[in-house]
Amino acid sequence: MPIILWIICGAVVLLGFTAFFGAPYVPSRNPEMERAFKKLYPLGKNDLLVDLGCGNGKVLKMASKFGARGIGIELNPLFFLIAKLRTRGDKNISIKFGDMFRMKLPDETTVLYVFGVERDGERLISHLEAEAKRLGHNLTLISYATPAKKHRPDREFEAYYLYRIKTQ
Ligand SMILES: C[S@@+](CC[C@H](N)C(=O)[O-])C[C@H]1O[C@@H](n2cnc3c(N)ncnc32)[C@H](O)[C@@H]1O
Repeated sequence: MPIILWIICGAVVLLGFTAFFGAPYVPSRNPEMERAFKKLYPLGKNDLLVDLGCGNGKVLKMASKFGARGIGIELNPLFFLIAKLRTRGDKNISIKFGDMFRMKLPDETTVLYVFGVERDGERLISHLEAEAKRLGHNLTLISYATPAKKHRPDREFEAYYLYRIKTQ
């Protein structure tokens, strides 16, 4: 098989990979995202934002612009590499390869961001409640485009939903 076909097959498999396990890759849009954070959760240098499924790392770059630190968790090896490359040299950002439902959050985590799929919403909130309990402090989740089915958001702005995740 010619090399180009191998490359195309590889790209299709990698792009389909997380679509099967969770959200497919679609990036958040910059002006909307910044507007929503300013309104719902103004980021600052005391924040550590964890992007659950960080794609190409653009949310982390936005957070870094406001002085916050950012950690991206990404399950798709292709996007993990792209995010690593796009954020290299930025001391505020690190990227980890793995599954958002299995990853332990760092102690200093203040806010989480997710642009996922609706079917994962409740599972994610349960996971974050267990993490908030383990860490011993409340967390804030900003979810884009996919509100959880049973939990009501504490605040919302356009397609962004803010959930306060309590320790109990
Ligand atoms: C809709 S994209 C959002 C990318 C980025 N957060 C943004 O808003 O621009 C969802 C990303 O989550 C990743 N993903 C899906 N399921 C995941 C999981 N269980 N753990 C980690 N990453 C996951 C996908 O590979 C994809 O890059």
